[in-house]
Amino acid sequence: MAQYDVVIIGGGPGGYNAAIRAGQLGLKVAVVEGRETLGGVCLNVGCMPSKALLHASELYAAATGGEFATLGIDVKPKLNLAQMMAQKADSVLALTKGIEFLFKKNKVEWIKGWGRIDGPGKVVVKAIDGAETTLEAKNILIATGSEPTPLPGVTVDNKRIVDSTGALSLPEVPGHLVVIGAGVIGLELGSVWRRLGAEVTVVEYLDRVCPGMDEETAKTFQRSLTKQGFKFQLGQKVTGAKASASGVEITMEPVKGGEPQTLAANYVLVAIGRRPFTQGLGLETVGVTPDKRGMIANDHFRTSAPGVWVVGDVTSGPMLAHKAEDEGVACIELIAGKAGHVNYDLIPGVIYTAPEVATVGKTEEELKAAGVVYKVGKFPFTANSRAKINHEGEGFVKVLADAKTDRILGVHMIGPNVGDMIAEYCVAMEFSASSEDVARTCHPHPTRSEALRQAAMGVEGWTMQA
Ligand code: FAD
Ligand code: NAI
Repeated sequence: MAQYDVVIIGGGPGGYNAAIRAGQLGLKVAVVEGRETLGGVCLNVGCMPSKALLHASELYAAATGGEFATLGIDVKPKLNLAQMMAQKADSVLALTKGIEFLFKKNKVEWIKGWGRIDGPGKVVVKAIDGAETTLEAKNILIATGSEPTPLPGVTVDNKRIVDSTGALSLPEVPGHLVVIGAGVIGLELGSVWRRLGAEVTVVEYLDRVCPGMDEETAKTFQRSLTKQGFKFQLGQKVTGAKASASGVEITMEPVKGGEPQTLAANYVLVAIGRRPFTQGLGLETVGVTPDKRGMIANDHFRTSAPGVWVVGDVTSGPMLAHKAEDEGVACIELIAGKAGHVNYDLIPGVIYTAPEVATVGKTEEELKAAGVVYKVGKFPFTANSRAKINHEGEGFVKVLADAKTDRILGVHMIGPNVGDMIAEYCVAMEFSASSEDVARTCHPHPTRSEALRQAAMGVEGWTMQA
């Protein structure tokens, strides 16, 4: 029987980063992954293919929507959807092969097949041909990720009624796409198809978009999407959807009561959240019981069973690739006797639309609820010279700092390239920076990053360029 220090079940960002770190630390490690390629949801049907389509469709929208013409570039763009999908598939394949390369480099074994725990220290792997192999492991790390949450009455067939995976590969631009759920997936993938020409209606249960996001930022975001042609039906409960060969009829009713209505769509994207994936994992053989949602609880990545660890979407916390990655690394470091740690207060969130949205730390609503006295520094991109010459003036940077100590508590941005720029504040906040630390740090001119500094200056009321 093959013996390992660690057997990891799942080859997504949680599992593959854990594996690489284990290899680096000299542990004998194997990853069990049932997909044909490594990288999990993120590389195969999540972060990466969605960003490939967001990038391509943003350029297409710039070419068709008048932005190129404003810059003095006259073109007559024609959509080649098959090529757009093909370049996405090529990039995704290259990335998944990259993980295979990193596994070889770090002596990580990929055992192809679906794994299940078979009592303490044992993982049985069922290969595609049905053959079963048993692995013996000092430590088992569960990194099995998540799957879309189903919506009762709206059956995903991935033809007319699709989940995120289906929405990444529609065979045509829908005339009318209805998105159920105004969260990250709905607004990113809704943007892709809106830019390619679809009419997009977002139906949301709550009376706002992106629950949990700083309210002012979310409102600005919704206004921006509305300007781009998105339609929003907020406070609506979808009660059913009937698919035919050519489209879907959706029935919904106001959450607060009122007349039901119907909505006709060519395609429907169901994006109401994701739930942990633990099917067939044999958790009962080690006495681990997930909660009602399927979530496996952890205490510093330890489950209730000795020697069984858990990271990523399948456990608590935001369902984000970089959170899974950090947990994977920290978990392995603990297994190796080091001091692995994740700072859950500083996990950034980014929505890769145009404008982008990026946040880290506390929202104004959270600070108010906690009774924290804070100051706000805010700077609009209309006053940032680089954004202005690029015709990217939409949005702002907002810095929230403790009124007494000046320590930065939260940063919320909407605007050009903010998804990359938020990393500056992540580093600053990891070092417990004050807003003055950022305000007095020299930033290169002319860059959009100057808006981050001007917002920090605003906390003490000395913003200079607005
Ligand atoms: P996963 O990536 O889900 O990987 C788990 C792996 O385990 C899968 O490959 C699965 O096949 C395998 N597995 C499960 N059970 C078994 C078993 N029994 N045996 C063997 N293998 C098994 N996050 C971001 O941070 N940024 C983004 O831009 C972003 N975009 C996204 C876009 C979309 C459309 C979606 C759906 C998600 C997106 N996410 C994004 C979320 C991100 O994909 C997840 O948070 C991340 O993939 C979680 O990593 P994980 O390792 O926990 O699980
Ligand atoms: P989400 O949690 O972001 O949004 C779901 C939305 O659906 C919420 O607004 C919710 O109120 C609404 N909703 C729930 N039930 C509903 C119902 N019955 N009818 C109408 N609306 C309903 O979930 P989403 O968008 O599915 O994304 C899943 C996960 O994937 C998220 O946790 C996110 O972190 C991750 N992700 C991250 C991305 C990024 O970091 N850029 C991109 C895409 C996904």
